[in-house]
Amino acid sequence: MLNCWGAALGAAVSVPVLLFVAAPYIRRYVAGGRCKSTAKMEGKVVIITGANTGIGKETARDLARRGARVIIACRDIAKAEAAASEIRAETGNQQVIVKKLDLADTKSIREFAEKFLAEEKELHILINNAGVMLCPYSKTADGFEMHMGVNHLGHFLLTFLLLERLKQSAPARIVNVSSLAHHGGRIRFHDLHGEKSYNRGLAYCHSKLANVLFTRELARRLQGTKVTANALHPGSVRSELVRHSFVMTWLWKIFSFFLKTPWEGAQTSVYCAVAEELDSVTGQYFSDCQPAYISPRGRDDETARKLWSVSCELLGIQWD
Ligand SMILES: NC(=O)c1ccc[n+]([C@@H]2O[C@H](COP(=O)([O-])OP(=O)(O)OC[C@H]3O[C@@H](n4cnc5c(N)ncnc54)[C@H](OP(=O)(O)O)[C@@H]3O)[C@@H](O)[C@H]2O)c1
Repeated sequence: MLNCWGAALGAAVSVPVLLFVAAPYIRRYVAGGRCKSTAKMEGKVVIITGANTGIGKETARDLARRGARVIIACRDIAKAEAAASEIRAETGNQQVIVKKLDLADTKSIREFAEKFLAEEKELHILINNAGVMLCPYSKTADGFEMHMGVNHLGHFLLTFLLLERLKQSAPARIVNVSSLAHHGGRIRFHDLHGEKSYNRGLAYCHSKLANVLFTRELARRLQGTKVTANALHPGSVRSELVRHSFVMTWLWKIFSFFLKTPWEGAQTSVYCAVAEELDSVTGQYFSDCQPAYISPRGRDDETARKLWSVSCELLGIQWD
């Protein structure tokens, strides 16, 4: 009996001590890769979608610190202005500018692009970062299922409208923030807008697979232009992304120690945007600032081509 109590007491003391000792190592492992590049970005113009919070905001802060002119493209101007003024004050870079962009409305995307092209002569880096996850079934202003509409079609149209400026400013980079969740996705051409069946977790996965396939086909088409396109997984990050799910919000809080901070989550985006060794690397997928495994569906060139033409049809554009 005494032995039993002794073992229980030993465990009660040693487990917390072990956890306390291991905590810094666990945190370092969770934090993942860091962008080690010290590249300066003076004279470079960058657009980051959804940069008022989370990963996008930390990406904007880093690029502003490197001297870039950073356009924060967001749907909520008040939130975006608050983020921009915080970044301006902290980095001393006054060229952090807010522009209105709602990726759930093609009219807003066209207005954003029109104003940008009228006001800015160059564009060196486009970071398609904004995203929604686990939304209850809803549609964008143009009738697209919300995940596919914002995460894929919105960025597809934005890239199309800005591509000539990227080509004129080359060398230039397009960075698409996808996710490990792309492994669970498939492109359901027969029901792209989830009208026959809808699962909000899967809808997110499908849209993130679309990000990977778009990157692949875009990179293929951009060969020889000095404009590169890469996709990435930022890691599991403590951000507002889980806001539509009560359960996920609590899980994210409880296990926050095992999640990346937004700064840590931004490292691979920054890496893809600035790393010198990626100057001519295109069509790749990164995680923790290194190449990562793409699911077989994410490497399916036929689906990538079909998704491209279906996206053009839905958006009413011709993109050869
Ligand atoms: N967090 C993770 O664990 C994780 C993992 C893998 C991939 N990712 C990807 O990382 C990217 C950034 O996510 P995050 O974690 O930083 O999430 P977040 O904190 O929720 O930030 C998402 C950003 O997207 C913006 N956004 C949403 N809908 C928009 C629309 N219709 N038009 C314009 N902007 C819109 C949000 O604006 P509002 O603030 O106005 O809503 C916000 O600025 C996403 O593409 C996400 O899929 C994240």
